[in-house]
Amino acid sequence: MSKEARLELDGKVFTLPTVEGTEGEKAVDVSTLRAATQYITLDDGYGNTGSCTSKVTFIDGDKGILRYRGIPIEELAERSTFVETSYLLIYGTLPTRAQLKTFSDLLTRHQFLHEDMTYHFEGFPTAAHPMAILSSMINAASCFDAGLMNWQWGKNQQFDIYAAQLISQVRTIAAYSYRKSKGLPLIYPKQSYKYTENFLHMMFSMPYEDFEIKPEVVKALDLIFLLHADHEQNCSTSTVRMVASSQANLFASCAAGVCALWGPLHGGANQAVLEMLDQIHRDGDDGSKFIAAAKDKNSGKKLMGFGHRVYKNHDPRATIIKKACDDVLAKLNISDPLLDIAKKLEEAALKDSYFVERKLYPNVDFYSGIIMRAIGIPVEMFTVIFAIGRMPGWIANYKEIMEEPKSRIYRPRQIYTGRTLNPFVPLGDRK
Ligand code: CMC
Repeated sequence: MSKEARLELDGKVFTLPTVEGTEGEKAVDVSTLRAATQYITLDDGYGNTGSCTSKVTFIDGDKGILRYRGIPIEELAERSTFVETSYLLIYGTLPTRAQLKTFSDLLTRHQFLHEDMTYHFEGFPTAAHPMAILSSMINAASCFDAGLMNWQWGKNQQFDIYAAQLISQVRTIAAYSYRKSKGLPLIYPKQSYKYTENFLHMMFSMPYEDFEIKPEVVKALDLIFLLHADHEQNCSTSTVRMVASSQANLFASCAAGVCALWGPLHGGANQAVLEMLDQIHRDGDDGSKFIAAAKDKNSGKKLMGFGHRVYKNHDPRATIIKKACDDVLAKLNISDPLLDIAKKLEEAALKDSYFVERKLYPNVDFYSGIIMRAIGIPVEMFTVIFAIGRMPGWIANYKEIMEEPKSRIYRPRQIYTGRTLNPFVPLGDRK
């Protein structure tokens, strides 16, 4: 029998239905609350609000569990690839061999940008942040496809193509934005390379010499993409859903996701972590001064790459990335002082009552930057790498909201706390 919640307000008792997910997560469904009571719920930062039901990703933040379509992240990290995992997220099941081939072929077929788009890169100043270029160019890409601009969910069958185009082209745009920032000639993708190899090729090859693609580098970067591929209703995915709920097209919705991801509290944290570690290194601090500052609310500092809204235990992605970080640095024979600082910071924080009491653990961004630095990715591209990885998750959530027959435009309410009725004062009478 389904449970009901009882709410007593203004002397009356109201009943509200409850909802239980497949993993036992429970919610009180307040969708009828305002109509019945005139009250809304208020939840600053949505910390306690479920904005949707979803079948894509499950997180148990207390136990440190993350699963895509039910499959533990540890198994995917060990046995899958970013492309296969993208298919899983978008279509709900692991692909058969034939489905994977069709999906990979679609990615390859749609990896080129419209040639006229290369002129758009010219318009950005050299110092433009690649995240700004990425979101602008994803939106611009939709203008080169009349079908996408006029496309409506359910009215035609183009979704598979547009999803593949976006996953594939985001990588091309990302590499081009880097080349542009360095004043380097653009390198076109190669048909023969797989997804992650091609990204490295477009980033680092020269017209006169191909970049040497090392398997350990491909493996590490592919893993980073895979680990970032989805993370349920975080800031950027909620943004994608918000924009999609107005029935904006797939590219416009995901371009908005890129902007939401950019901030240092979300995807921008990976850049901020590296900058923090670098600063600690240059200051000659062993980490203790920085930890003290991060605990002081007046310092304006935080231990970047630590803490999470949902994980109150180890972020399983961080555990996988830390190990990958040790592996790749050893294989590339690199010794990075920033890795030593990161490990010292982690060790100190995990013993410190401030971090222990607040259940603050390293998150996915704490070690990912050290891997990216080791494979030659410049720091300003770190959040772009996150965005490339997150694209299938955004697309899966876009698809889910479009396929939901009862989905409505997202439109939260507010409690107004401004001035009450306030008559207009003509300019000459204002003091
Ligand atoms: N350093 C120092 N104090 C922290 C940190 C931190 N990194 N994170 C949280 N706290 C404190 C916070 O000030 C608060 O203290 P108090 O209870 O005394 O007011 C307490 O811990 C609870 O934190 P919160 O602010 O309620 O946490 P939140 O859920 O609002 O924010 C967060 C989550 C990830 C934005 C935050 O932990 C943070 O800013 N971390 C650093 C940035 C970062 O690494 N972001 C990447 C997140 S993982 C990648 C992604 O999915 O985006």
